Amino acid sequence: KSIVVLISGSGSNLQALLDHFADQPERARISAVISNRADAYGLERAKAAGVPAHVLSHRDYPDRPSFDRALAEVINRYQPDLVVLAGFMRILTPEFTDRYIGRLFNIHPSLLPKYKGLDTHQRALDAGDTEHGCSVHFVTSELDGGPVIIQARTPILPGDSAENLAQRVHQLEHRIYPLAAQWFVDGRLQLEAGTVVLDGTVL
Ligand code: GRF
Repeated sequence: KSIVVLISGSGSNLQALLDHFADQPERARISAVISNRADAYGLERAKAAGVPAHVLSHRDYPDRPSFDRALAEVINRYQPDLVVLAGFMRILTPEFTDRYIGRLFNIHPSLLPKYKGLDTHQRALDAGDTEHGCSVHFVTSELDGGPVIIQARTPILPGDSAENLAQRVHQLEHRIYPLAAQWFVDGRLQLEAGTVVLDGTVL
């Protein structure tokens, strides 16, 4: 199976996926990494792993639809079974999300449906929440709104700052993203009529 990963930054989730799939090249591999930013550190991680790395700057395109079309063109060269958004900080058009529906994942640093969008850690603190976490979900045209596949949670402790909370949530992200991707490439996980099915059971 072929997995294409889209990034904009550090790429620590990309690294977790590279590490996870490194020992099963016949079954599944990260076949390409695409960043919309030339300075994304994740590009170095891709190169270090011997994975083709592309930069496609949204600034080179007049509007979102044309950027998304160019993005799809690069993605499709790798005939992916799964496309993974790993800290990819661009809103995608419905044309793009529809094209990859059921084989497009995102990870979001909150317990969805709470705190869609940015600044999730600070928002969880400000709300006085007692727990926080992250979610892997199928991407639909609704931003951070697609069906959730798996979540991981951590208690919010007295004295927690947005920074150390983010760090703990990141550790959880690195555990659940490879897990969900493995389920998918093993054919155990599907999106069926808008709901998530794992091993034949609706989640
Ligand atoms: C993660 O917190 C992810 O949930 C969010 O962007 C961040 C990406 O981190 N969507 P990294 O680039 O994988 O280190």
